[in-house]
Amino acid sequence: MSVEPAALPDFCRNYQDYQQLLQHQCHALEVPEPEQAAIEASFQLAQKIAELIHFNGKLPFAQFMQQALYHPGLGYYSGGSHKLGAGGDFVTAPEISPMFGQTIAKSLQQAWNNTEPCVLELGAGTGKLMCDILQQCESDNQLPEAYYILEVSAELRQRQQQMLNDKLPQLKPLVIWLDRLPESFQGVIIGNEVIDAIPVDLFMQTEQGLTQGFVAHNNNGFKLEFEETSFSQGWQKKHADLCQEWPEGYLAESYDLRIDWLKSLVECLEQGCIVLIDYGYEEEELYSPYRPQGSLQCYYQQRKHSVPLALLGLQDITSSVNFTQLAQAALDNNAQVLGFTTQSQFLTLSGIEQFVAQPQDSDTMSSLSVAQQLQTLLMPNEMGQNIKVLGLSKGFSGALSGFTSLGLNQA
Ligand SMILES: C[S@@+](CC[C@H](N)C(=O)[O-])C[C@H]1O[C@@H](n2cnc3c(N)ncnc32)[C@H](O)[C@@H]1O
Repeated sequence: MSVEPAALPDFCRNYQDYQQLLQHQCHALEVPEPEQAAIEASFQLAQKIAELIHFNGKLPFAQFMQQALYHPGLGYYSGGSHKLGAGGDFVTAPEISPMFGQTIAKSLQQAWNNTEPCVLELGAGTGKLMCDILQQCESDNQLPEAYYILEVSAELRQRQQQMLNDKLPQLKPLVIWLDRLPESFQGVIIGNEVIDAIPVDLFMQTEQGLTQGFVAHNNNGFKLEFEETSFSQGWQKKHADLCQEWPEGYLAESYDLRIDWLKSLVECLEQGCIVLIDYGYEEEELYSPYRPQGSLQCYYQQRKHSVPLALLGLQDITSSVNFTQLAQAALDNNAQVLGFTTQSQFLTLSGIEQFVAQPQDSDTMSSLSVAQQLQTLLMPNEMGQNIKVLGLSKGFSGALSGFTSLGLNQA
């Protein structure tokens, strides 16, 4: 169902007006202007979102974020943006150094002593982590029986297939792309920087109490409005307790879609473990009064800002992970917490140093020296401390050396 163009707001009725709006946003954010094809895709997406608002009213922020990132063919992850890696908008640990995947490969091999030698990788990006893991397992003579990938972006799925074809054509029969989670899986599920790409809602402490963020528009563009929340009674009670010390204007994210996602992962795991690596905090730190602006961030051409309504479909939108909530959801669904630690500690305890002396591959993001790669992965002011690793398990009697202690209050 589509609406008459006359019913759309001015900024998405006329292409030239939309182009001017994007130029204005780029100027304000001090980022380069997108190419013509990207502006056209963004214009189409703006029309789709304006139609949704026309039919359904203001969109809760999570629904807007879902469209901006995953609208088929037009969202940031589903469309043609280069996204991650060299020349993209942001970099992740596998793109920085093969040592990341090589170390994860050792952890997987350790886990396989107590579960099936199978991997399910969620959101595999360019395919770099998959290739580094498989290459290391091949040289250790410890290949898995199958390496499954669940990737929501058709464009990234193609890039993953291309990378496998180019780098490890002999291992193609091992890698299987899935369209949905399997009903039942035994082995190790891994995901690097996937949870932070799952949409969140926004809420704000105001004079009237907690309010929720909705996306509306006027004739000049989309805008964020805070109104009475549509969250459940349970949510309201929990957050009323949490926010007692928050000043007026305190902004934060709410994570229902991520909890549902985690529950479905835990449900599909029959036996084995789940290793989730991402930016984030325990709940107390995440919702501390000293973090009044929330953690929502946008990435466009390696520049970071916090204006999610700009550059529609052309920028990544992400927010930190609430690890306490995820661990609690896992415990509530019959899983155990295997461990929780920083990326620095996980990689160090899993033996990253053994890969330092080895030759590095030529695909690594830049000409960073091995020392620089290690620094980015391990140093507290880089990824070392900000990125955490959460291990969950079901029917799994082993341990992973990357986790020393359980951490997290719930464990
Ligand atoms: C920030 S990128 C990280 C990519 C890669 N793991 C890395 O570390 O380079 C997020 C990835 O998660 C994928 N993704 C987002 N939501 C997903 C979901 N619900 N299931 C599977 N993949 C998802 C995106 O398409 C993308 O490949």
